[in-house]
Amino acid sequence: MKKGSAWLTLFCVAWIIGSCGGAIGKRKALSKGQRIYIEQCQRCHGAHGNAQLNGAKNLQYSDLNMEERIHIITKGRGVMPAFSGNLNSEEIDLVASYLDSLPVAP
Ligand code: HEC
Repeated sequence: MKKGSAWLTLFCVAWIIGSCGGAIGKRKALSKGQRIYIEQCQRCHGAHGNAQLNGAKNLQYSDLNMEERIHIITKGRGVMPAFSGNLNSEEIDLVASYLDSLPVAP
């Protein structure tokens, strides 16, 4: 192999690994919020946020901003438990953002 094409191959491999890594990283961040939701929130709020089990609010109608969501998830309210012991602040941010992926009620 000529020296030039070896470098070209190396560059291509690095580029492919680089672009893959980015996509995988992003997908992980998204599904991490979803995973936390499924593990911690679904039993009351349901897969689509509207199950309203145990008196839970319908999250599809919720119009809370990010700060208010994070506050409720961290501290709890009424029947809803505080998650500050189970989730760190990064995980609370991720699950609070995930609520935006729930379907919106008309
Ligand atoms: C044990 C059942 C239960 C679990 C588990 C639970 N919730 Fe709740 N959630 C509730 C109840 C009950 C309310 C209504 C609280 C109130 O206002 O008295 C509520 C309210 C909320 C609200 C406020 C909605 C609004 O518009 O006022 C948000 C946001 C929320 N929950 C998000 C979550 C997230 C995110 C999780 C998972 C980390 C979660 N909840 C887990 C029961 C639960």
